[in-house]
Amino acid sequence: MSQSQKAPPPVDYDRIREIVSEHKGEPGVLIPVLQEVQEEVGYIPPESMSIIAKGLGTTPAQVQGVLTFYAMFYTAPRGRHVVRVCRGTACHVRGGANILRAVKGDLGLQDGETDEDYQFTLETVACMGACALSPVMVVGNDFYGRLNPARVGAILDGYKGGTT
Ligand code: FES
Repeated sequence: MSQSQKAPPPVDYDRIREIVSEHKGEPGVLIPVLQEVQEEVGYIPPESMSIIAKGLGTTPAQVQGVLTFYAMFYTAPRGRHVVRVCRGTACHVRGGANILRAVKGDLGLQDGETDEDYQFTLETVACMGACALSPVMVVGNDFYGRLNPARVGAILDGYKGGTT
């Protein structure tokens, strides 16, 4: 987070309560509930841990344990669009470093950073399992393969502004 980072978007805790109550009583539901909350909010707000624990009849410590164990969960606010650039070997050989440089330059972010408006978060990934299409980048659920740096700006422009 930069020093000029604005306050993160407000969290809809009622929606989190709804998600919890929709799954109440189902066995082994903690991870799916956390996934759904993250999908809805973008991360797992620390304040929601007690709501989730209470609703599912477990403890905040157990929720925290799951969050700590699984790297797929985030406990800090992220951008509306998470941009993942592959830094694996196949992508590297085909110019992945230039893609990453272009993304960093376009968004003004380093690996792991979120912009001050919470529009974008930049992450690098070891391999996305699509080496034949290298170099690759994913924005949210959208996959871009056989990239070159000249395409990066136009792709990212498509996600700028708006609220979706
Ligand atoms: S190395 Fe980039 S997708 Fe495998």
